Amino acid sequence: MISPFFFEKNTLSILDQRMLPEKEVWIPCTEADDVAQAIRTLAVRGAPAIGIAAAYGCALAARSGRNSLEKAAQILIEARPTAVNLSWAVRRVLDALTCVPESGLYDTALKEAGEIWEEEKRANEAMAQIGAALFPEGKASSVLTHCNAGSLATGGIGTALGVVRKLYEQGKLSRVYMDETRPLLQGARITAYEMCRLCIPATLITDSMAGWLMKQGRIDAVIVGADRIARNLDAANKIGTYSLAVLARSHGIPFYVAAPLSTFDPHIATGAEIPIEERHQEEVLSFQGCRCAPEVEVFNPAFDVTGHELITAVITEREVLYPDGGGLA
Ligand code: MRU
Repeated sequence: MISPFFFEKNTLSILDQRMLPEKEVWIPCTEADDVAQAIRTLAVRGAPAIGIAAAYGCALAARSGRNSLEKAAQILIEARPTAVNLSWAVRRVLDALTCVPESGLYDTALKEAGEIWEEEKRANEAMAQIGAALFPEGKASSVLTHCNAGSLATGGIGTALGVVRKLYEQGKLSRVYMDETRPLLQGARITAYEMCRLCIPATLITDSMAGWLMKQGRIDAVIVGADRIARNLDAANKIGTYSLAVLARSHGIPFYVAAPLSTFDPHIATGAEIPIEERHQEEVLSFQGCRCAPEVEVFNPAFDVTGHELITAVITEREVLYPDGGGLA
């Protein structure tokens, strides 16, 4: 399984996902600032993965004492606004350090970061089992996914792609269709890369093709990850997810969200409260470094929110939640 990072010799080495699939380049992070920069620039991305990376970032800052730690924690939390896993993981490390003397900060923070990572891996495995059980026996389903919710987004087998992987192992998957996911091509560059390494039958499409495939009866279900889920199960995920949910509803296709409990934000009642990151216009004006538009105004929201009424079910490591069941207890 490919990992988005590893920790060794006081360094968090982050696989630079911006360079995939062409090159595997590792970024050595020895300071929390290096980790924050990797998160900000999407060298590491995906909600659970940025949470784990930020937890290690806190540990790196903890080596310089409590004052540096608190400043670093804020910088890490502010690196990206939408995925709640980031602030959740940072706060969890800070909480673990509350009564720890200065001399024990680093070791305790490292241990907590490692525990967060292990828990995410276990959550991925559990979601894969629980999610695959929702699909019919004796039939190979074809599923559509968006963005990348696999190993490189989670540090485990993946959320949505963990379910895809399990379906394949169980002989219940005929094919996974992958949206390329403009503007940054996480589907084309990262999901396709992961599916090829796993030899899972996979077909890449551009984002605008999804509706036509549904119309032709080529998609049995849509499955995506999430960056933040409100109490009523409204879910933020990569821009384009909402359009897929609308299309799925209009074609009578189930729409599943797979996400660990670390992606749930108990403080917000609905998706209207989820902050949506807006990114630089250059990501839309260019395609893989080549200009493809004149100097024109650009709107570049990185995420959208799918209302719970469009979601068939949310798969967590604990249980399947149905929006009409009222959300997370
Ligand atoms: O901007 P990104 O690449 O960090 O966006 C990632 C996504 O939207 C993923 O679908 C989401 O984090 C779920 S990852 C298990």
